[in-house]
Amino acid sequence: MSKTIGQQFFNDPRLEEAKKLIKEALNDHKKSITGVKAPNPELKASYDELLKKMADYRGGGLFFNYLGSGIGNGPLVELADGSIKYDFITGIGVHYMGHSHEGVIEATLKGALANTVMNGHLQQNDTTAELLEVISKAATKNGALVKNVFLSTSGAMANDNAFKIIFQKRAPLAKRFFAFEKCFSGRTLGMAWVTDKAAYRAGVPQTVQVDYVPFYDENDHKGSIEKAVKAMKSCLKRYPGEYAGFIMELIQGENGSWVGNTEYFEALIAVCKENNISLLVDEVQTFGRTTEIFAFQHFKLDKHVDVVTVGKNSQVCATLYSDDHKPKPGLLSQTFTGSSSQISAAYFVINEILKGNYLGENGKIMKLHKHFQAKLEAMSKKMPNKITGPYGIGAMVAMTVFGGDEAKTKDFTYKLFNNGVLSFQAGAAPLSRVRFLMPILAVEEHHIDEVCAIIEKTLTEME
Ligand SMILES: Cc1ncc(COP(=O)(O)O)c(C=O)c1O
Repeated sequence: MSKTIGQQFFNDPRLEEAKKLIKEALNDHKKSITGVKAPNPELKASYDELLKKMADYRGGGLFFNYLGSGIGNGPLVELADGSIKYDFITGIGVHYMGHSHEGVIEATLKGALANTVMNGHLQQNDTTAELLEVISKAATKNGALVKNVFLSTSGAMANDNAFKIIFQKRAPLAKRFFAFEKCFSGRTLGMAWVTDKAAYRAGVPQTVQVDYVPFYDENDHKGSIEKAVKAMKSCLKRYPGEYAGFIMELIQGENGSWVGNTEYFEALIAVCKENNISLLVDEVQTFGRTTEIFAFQHFKLDKHVDVVTVGKNSQVCATLYSDDHKPKPGLLSQTFTGSSSQISAAYFVINEILKGNYLGENGKIMKLHKHFQAKLEAMSKKMPNKITGPYGIGAMVAMTVFGGDEAKTKDFTYKLFNNGVLSFQAGAAPLSRVRFLMPILAVEEHHIDEVCAIIEKTLTEME
């Protein structure tokens, strides 16, 4: 078969040679990154200057004093002050394969060599078609109807697009949405009014009308189902026919890895069905982190989903929808839907999650979860006044420190950072949590052991 000039270029032996050299150089340098290291005092002045520059031009400092040097090794990352830390939050759940992964770098290089930096509504390169096929086939493998995939550049934008699709489908009367209490859906003008946090929409005029339903409580299985169904029914009585959709995070990530339940979801979905309400599952954080690539598959909700959004681990963000929810021309379009490097990396990472031994009850994700959980449980027995939990599922792990006190939890994440582990605060008082979004694909049990030793040391140092 005759090849395009593009195919000839990408298969040019000189590129193979160049890639080989790049990989050799990468491995020569990253092999020196073997464990946690304190900052280099000689780099302190230049690092402080960089941090100041960042804060001055950004209009405010960073949450952590994190400016990477551009290299790492699996779960370890080097910062520009020469320190090395365990990255157990990965940019809030993005770098699933860890730092400086050879395969990811090769994929991004392929994208970087493409003719354009960005892809968008008027032009996509051939890799995008391959990527959409992988995502679509993975989503529909158990019969879900969400076969159409629209790419976008952030999780919030993917959710905005999902809302527009559902509002258009249910127009003109249905203008309201259901969401879970304490949900996080992003911070666009639309999503700021969905995310259940007043501070994130302070001063912003209302864009979407949302009513909140209490999330699942594993300590009150039956009661929490009854409460949620009752909340929905009372809203439906107040605003009959006005609900277009229900956005569901099946595991609440930003709130601290709260895990839902199939029976609970099915009870709410039954009310949706009775009232012509579309189901939107927000998988921006859950994608690739449970026993299945999609959490809706883990909870066996395949036949119910109308629209699904993904982001973070997927490297690209996307809104998936059924034919029945196909938007009219003009509703969705974007100049940028993703960079060439991003699309190429997404293709590589998603295939790796699907084809490696990560998913399933006995896959690497669940094995590492159990290991981490056992370690944290043992720690909580040792110092019950300092740590409770752990919570979460799969690659979403959380714990409570100092009874969930917000200020102390924040302080703990700073101290843990200084001791060499990146985590993040989640939820709010009185139930603040510390959470971890591990780069599962790069983590081994001994990394978790080392991280747990640092957690224990940090807790011991705090009163
Ligand atoms: C469940 C969920 N939805 C949406 C978003 C927003 O994604 P982004 O920050 O890429 O806009 C997030 C981000 O944390 C999320 O966790």
